[in-house]
Amino acid sequence: MVDKIKNYIAEVEKFTASTQEEVENFRIKFLGQKGILKEFFAEFKNVPNESKKEFGQTINELKTAAQDKVNELREALESKLEENGVYGDLTRPGEPVEIGSRHPISIVKNQIIEIFSNIGFNVSEGPEMEDDWHNFTALNLPEYHPARDMQDTFFIQTDPEEILLRTHTSSVQVRYMEDNQPPIRTISPGRVFRNEAISARSHCIFHQVEGLYIDKGVSFADLKQTLLYFTKQLFGKSKIRLRPSYFPFTEPSAEVDIYWGLETETDYRITKGTGWLEIMGCGMVDPNVLKNCNIDPNEYSGFAFGMGIERIAMLLYQISDIRMFYENDVRFLNQFKSVL
Ligand code: DAH
Repeated sequence: MVDKIKNYIAEVEKFTASTQEEVENFRIKFLGQKGILKEFFAEFKNVPNESKKEFGQTINELKTAAQDKVNELREALESKLEENGVYGDLTRPGEPVEIGSRHPISIVKNQIIEIFSNIGFNVSEGPEMEDDWHNFTALNLPEYHPARDMQDTFFIQTDPEEILLRTHTSSVQVRYMEDNQPPIRTISPGRVFRNEAISARSHCIFHQVEGLYIDKGVSFADLKQTLLYFTKQLFGKSKIRLRPSYFPFTEPSAEVDIYWGLETETDYRITKGTGWLEIMGCGMVDPNVLKNCNIDPNEYSGFAFGMGIERIAMLLYQISDIRMFYENDVRFLNQFKSVL
């Protein structure tokens, strides 16, 4: 009898199954209500006393072996099923992965950051909601200045103090100078807001990059050299001219034109037939601005500049309507896939 049980144990150990049904039949055969184990247990009372111990132990062995086998096979089959569920048919052809693209504004912004970081400029940021001090007063904008006009500025609150959406990233200059002592070399990209009618050329929300360099003995020649380097890097062209201009926060001030050329129809259109194109404003930081930010103008001097990212992106990619940047039409965005 014990030998018979041992044969069953061997059978149990050898058993394998490829379906849950086979496992279930196996379970019924050994562990079911009318199964082999039930029969042996019923036999127990007929076994002579001296053999009871060995008999009992062997049946228990068979029982454990059968139960372990059932559990082990069930688990194996279940995990196989799960794998199929997760991975499906591993030989099927792959599904195409859609490659995304950066927004052209981000592409140009990152290029500008890279160009300036190569000559030691860091990146700084400030809030889009500003107070009057950082957006206007500290920047030497007198109270009657037209830029403060309600028509240009989105005011959020006027009482007790004026809170507004910044109209330029020059506000970050002020914040940076308040928090850091020279030498300062920083650029500040960001979003700015102006209460302007939306058209193909202008929008009420756009992006700027501000630049600021403050140290001992910084001169206009340093500014010019930095601009030459920048335009060469970004546009591959370094013929520029500095046209005298006015900004309250710089003295002297200039607007930078780049010689774009007159080689194609489009060149004529974008440069209005002159070949020259304005790309940014700049100048030597006004001593009043330095004073407002607790930097001694007798010890330090510096230059600043500011440019619109949309304008530059429109030039580089020959985009004719500024509104395309904000519509997020996939047909437009798809065209920038190959650019990092
Ligand atoms: N803030 C000016 C604007 O929004 C741009 C600008 C001009 C920034 C001259 C400067 C600067 O830092 O020096 O039109």
